[in-house]
Amino acid sequence: MSKHHLIWNESLHRVGITAIDNQHREIIERVNLIADTVDQGSRYDIVQEMMDDLVLFAYEHFALEERLMTEYGFPGMEEHIAEHLGLLQKMDNLRNALRTPNPAKAALVLAFLTDWAELHILQSDREIGEFLADKGIR
Ligand SMILES: [Fe+2]
Ligand SMILES: [Fe+2]
Repeated sequence: MSKHHLIWNESLHRVGITAIDNQHREIIERVNLIADTVDQGSRYDIVQEMMDDLVLFAYEHFALEERLMTEYGFPGMEEHIAEHLGLLQKMDNLRNALRTPNPAKAALVLAFLTDWAELHILQSDREIGEFLADKGIR
């Protein structure tokens, strides 16, 4: 396992909505795998494909959260959607950064993942989780 890893921590990262938590686990796994692949010096086209898949998965994930926010009238929805757009932009920047040779690539991947997991999942997604839990959604 690469040193450029973020470990899923059930008590820390769980927001309490099963479908969202399952996707968050997969996002962390996928980004860790990208960091590994970069670390191993694999061909950049393979890494680009993995980034493309991650973007598609992120779209699916954000759509799920946005559907739940709409359905239950989450008050912070606009700000939350803006954060999703910011993450998509960062993914695009990262994808471009991984295209060129750079010894710090895996660290860039980890920095992005840390941003996503520690800023967005731990704070913003948790707010959705708490809001939905109050409505009896699991
Ligand atoms: Fe989110
Ligand atoms: Fe999320």
